[in-house]
Amino acid sequence: MEHMTPKARRLIETADAVVGYRTYIELVRGIVKPTAEVVSGTMGREVDRAKTAIEKAVEGKAVAVVSSGDPGVYGMAGVVLEAAAIKNAGVPIEIVPGVTAATAAASKLGAPLVTDFAVISLSDLLTPWELIERRLHAAGNADFVIVLYNPQSLGRKKPLAKAHKILLKYRKPETPVGIVRQAGRDKEGAVISTLKDLLCEEIDMVSTVIVGNSTTRIVNGRMVTPRGYHLDK
Ligand SMILES: C[S@@+](CC[C@H](N)C(=O)[O-])C[C@H]1O[C@@H](n2cnc3c(N)ncnc32)[C@H](O)[C@@H]1O
Repeated sequence: MEHMTPKARRLIETADAVVGYRTYIELVRGIVKPTAEVVSGTMGREVDRAKTAIEKAVEGKAVAVVSSGDPGVYGMAGVVLEAAAIKNAGVPIEIVPGVTAATAAASKLGAPLVTDFAVISLSDLLTPWELIERRLHAAGNADFVIVLYNPQSLGRKKPLAKAHKILLKYRKPETPVGIVRQAGRDKEGAVISTLKDLLCEEIDMVSTVIVGNSTTRIVNGRMVTPRGYHLDK
């Protein structure tokens, strides 16, 4: 709640209808108007939720579609805009930015993203694995700090193992790696490990992994990617 912008909060508090994935609805339920219609659903039903939201907006309701983090980063913003276009809805749509997992996780680890970084989702549900592999090779080869979203879940362990193998072609085994679970939530946890030990760490679908570049190091227990400043004593 603390990391939600005042604007996002105001729009949820005043919405006539709030639409979202069940887990996210539960996180905001306390600020939803008692009279508001709440439409919650399961993962994988994003298109249905986007269409429902547009239908309710066409009826004249103020609708808030909730996403975790930033709705424009692997979130609902794109599918809502597409659903509105297909339905010729003609309703105004505003995308309200939020704190995405990459920056929430970075803040818990130290300062790993102060220079160029790449963000890659390891979920091959909507993106072919071959393309994800190409992006891992490209980002590894270009020495980006790499943020991995959707690293693994109980039933989906192979992508992280494959990504690990690819990244070891470009990075030393001692490269610092940070894993942050449930950033900004009650069960938050952060671990700094190395690329070598990545697969031994506890990583689930609410985790974000940050793999350092060739200059990332540990400074007083925090993960830091130097930006190039020269510090005198
Ligand atoms: C479908 S993406 C949604 C990203 C979200 N829109 C954002 O901007 O953070 C889901 C992935 O985001 C990351 N994620 C979302 N919430 C997180 C949290 N609280 N802590 C750590 N990672 C999180 C995880 O990698 C998760 O698998």
